[in-house]
Amino acid sequence: MNGTNFALILFTCFAFGLPLWAMQANDYDGRDINGCSGECYEQWKEETGGVVAVSAAKAAAKAAAPPAELGKMAYIGCVACHGAAGEGGVGPKLAGQTMEAIADKLTRYKNGETVGSQSALMWSQASQLGSDDIENLAAYIVTL
Ligand code: HEC
Repeated sequence: MNGTNFALILFTCFAFGLPLWAMQANDYDGRDINGCSGECYEQWKEETGGVVAVSAAKAAAKAAAPPAELGKMAYIGCVACHGAAGEGGVGPKLAGQTMEAIADKLTRYKNGETVGSQSALMWSQASQLGSDDIENLAAYIVTL
C-alpha cells in the first residue's frame, strides 16, 4: 500500500465514520431539551426547582442588575428618534434632563397625556413601558 492509498482509506474512514459517530453521540439519552419528559423532567425539576424556581432566579438576576444597565437595553428602541447620546432628532434632546423630568414625562405619555405638540408619537412608545421600565430608562438617560 502506498501513501496515497493509505491516505484515501484514512479519509474514507473519517468521512463515513464521523457522521456515524456523531449520530451515535446524539442518541436520545432522555436529557435533550426538546424531549425531556417523565423521569427526565422530574430530574430536571429536582436539580433546578422547576419552572417557578427558574423564573424566580431569572427575576432575581434581573433585579440585581443595575437600573441603568436595564435602561440601556430598553433605550435601544428610542435611539432612532432621540439619538444614541440623547442628543435629539425626531424627538427632543434628552441628555441633560433630570431623572425626575424624564420619568415624569414618560409617565404622562403612558397615561395618554399631552406634553408637547407631538405627544402622540410618544403615546405608543410609552404605553409599552412598566413603571420599572420608566425608572430604568430615566436612570440610563441621565448617564448620557
Ligand atoms: C417615533 C419617534 C420616537 C421614539 C421611537 C421615541 N420617542 Fe420620545 N419623543 C418623540 C417625540 C416626537 C417627542 C416630543 C413629544 C411631545 O411633543 O410631547 C418625544 C418626547 C420624549 C420625552 C419628553 C422630552 C421632553 O423634553 O419633552 C421623553 C422623556 C422621551 N420622548 C423618551 C423616550 C424614550 C425613553 C423612548 C424609548 C422607549 C422614546 N422616547 C422613543 C419621539 C420618539
